[in-house]
Amino acid sequence: MTMIEQIHALRVDIERDLAAIASPEDLERFRLAHMVKKGTLQTLTDALRTVPKEDKPTVGKNLNELRKLAENGFEAARATYERRTSTQRIDVSLPGRAATAGSVHPITQTLDRIVDIFTSMGFDVAESFDIEDDDHNFGKLNFAEDHPARDMQDTFFIDDAERADLVLRTHTSSVQIRVMEQMSPPIRCIMPGRVYRNEAVSARSLAEFHQVEGLYIDKGVSMADLKGTIMAFAQRMYSSDAKFRFRTSYFPFTEPSAEVDMSCFICKGQGCRICKHSGWLEICGCGMVHPNVLRNCGIDPEEYSGFAFGFGIERVTMMLTGIDDIRMLYDNDVRVLRQF
Ligand code: PHE
Repeated sequence: MTMIEQIHALRVDIERDLAAIASPEDLERFRLAHMVKKGTLQTLTDALRTVPKEDKPTVGKNLNELRKLAENGFEAARATYERRTSTQRIDVSLPGRAATAGSVHPITQTLDRIVDIFTSMGFDVAESFDIEDDDHNFGKLNFAEDHPARDMQDTFFIDDAERADLVLRTHTSSVQIRVMEQMSPPIRCIMPGRVYRNEAVSARSLAEFHQVEGLYIDKGVSMADLKGTIMAFAQRMYSSDAKFRFRTSYFPFTEPSAEVDMSCFICKGQGCRICKHSGWLEICGCGMVHPNVLRNCGIDPEEYSGFAFGFGIERVTMMLTGIDDIRMLYDNDVRVLRQF
């Protein structure tokens, strides 16, 4: 038999076998007979080598047509008869796949709570620029020209040939100044925002973090109001078994100044790495607004007095969540974030 005759004979077989497919077993039998490496089609294709050169185009063309026919027929039959394996079957009794939901970042959750507590006490929220001038970040806050906080150690300066006085704000006290410049007392504001300090990154500190500051200016505001406000906030923010203490301190923009400590949330006052083995964590700086600061903003210190306070939002978040390394708040590891 010539090749052409063999191809015709095989065509007759294939057409007959295709027409006879009526079950998954028939389908498989067809595949094994014609479609596999040792099947009829490939065997003929291998024999193409022995065909004289001049006949090759015609024989090859015929063979290709036959292969197409077999493949198309096989695919069509397969759509109907292929046995569905268990993985392809739909099990309607399986539980559905839950959609994964995103959640609010722990720092934002903390900020939302802080804002809630203070707004319920009658405070407004004010925001301002991250890039500030020296005057708002330091000068009007009563920092002396040679105060070490202006030093390269703490402050990131903006490299601007025309404005040598621009810095990344080192605290949101700059917003106090902007608020006092724009409003007249009574002023009741909290000022959340991002701040920047040239500090070594460690478990306790970052070079970029968040603060909330508060400012209350009115006639007859006293240190007792400051203490009462901070305690009212702290008791709502933290667990009721936490202990607090006020310590005298120094800030250029407040006089007198104090710092508030809370018993360490990790060791409950026993002493650990986070509280530097003192049992206490500094949570807040505060004080009565310095008369110079009021005067710098056009407020008469003879008529008005006020208090200010400020604290770090990351620090508060750590106390609330028990996260003991501040860097974890910025790793964005969903295994951590999902827990809050
Ligand atoms: N600005 C101070 C700081 O960054 C905090 C503070 C705010 C202290 C207001 C007293 C009054 O540490």
